[in-house]
Amino acid sequence: MAEGDAGASLGKIPQHVAFIMDGNGRWAQARGLPRNAGHRAGRENVRRVLDACGEFGIKHVTLYAFSTENWKRPTDEVRGLMNLFENATDSELAELHRNGVQIRHLGRQEGLSPLLRNRLNHAAQQTRNNTKLVLSIALNYGGRAEIVDAVRRMIEAGLRPEDVTEESLSRYLYTAGLPDPDLVVRTAGEMRLSNFMVWQAAYAEYYSTPTFWPDFDREELRKALASYDQRHRRFGQLDQQAK
Ligand code: IPE
Ligand code: IPE
Ligand code: MG
Repeated sequence: MAEGDAGASLGKIPQHVAFIMDGNGRWAQARGLPRNAGHRAGRENVRRVLDACGEFGIKHVTLYAFSTENWKRPTDEVRGLMNLFENATDSELAELHRNGVQIRHLGRQEGLSPLLRNRLNHAAQQTRNNTKLVLSIALNYGGRAEIVDAVRRMIEAGLRPEDVTEESLSRYLYTAGLPDPDLVVRTAGEMRLSNFMVWQAAYAEYYSTPTFWPDFDREELRKALASYDQRHRRFGQLDQQAK
């Protein structure tokens, strides 16, 4: 299917969709498999969801892959996840680049292996001029850490108190230059942000589905987009003003 065609029956398509990819562990558990098998299935599913996002004409996709809190998991699981990230940032790069995808990393570099840092930086560098779709990977990402990092850099840059505004602070976040997410999709049923985009999602629409991330397919995405299409975004105004 050609890019953008899939959304023809939907009134409005969000410009930026951010996914909290949750439920890999429960997906594996339901099959009697180790948790890392769930993470491998989740990694495979990223390709399918990205293709579907392209079909619906979504321009910005953000994936929450690993939070600053996920380091507290058992060493084996963290190691398995880091191996997956190291492999995926290498093996998927050529095809993403061919498809015109721009790759960005959101999160702290400290704490990641030198190999993974290099691969994330290389992917961002190689794809920086691509414009078809912007894929932001939130890895070692925490919304609170992001704001702390931004404030530190503002102080280092010598900003005066009166220079600190919502606009200037936004320019110091990892997401500088990206539009705020219009829609946050969380798989696996939880009703929380888990420290994801706490600043940027202030006015995002929220959608939660019980489906585990490895099972979240094109039809599930269509349902999320259909739900978004029904929402009235008012941004504090009255319905008739916010049209
Ligand atoms: C999401 O799946 C992946 C990461 C947080 C890295 P989980 O691993 O959290 O899966 P559940 O929530 O245990 O099912
Ligand atoms: C959120 O999922 C983080 C990612 C999807 C990367 P978690 O599974 O870590 O969230 P909690 O612990 O249930 O809040
Ligand atoms: Mg989880």
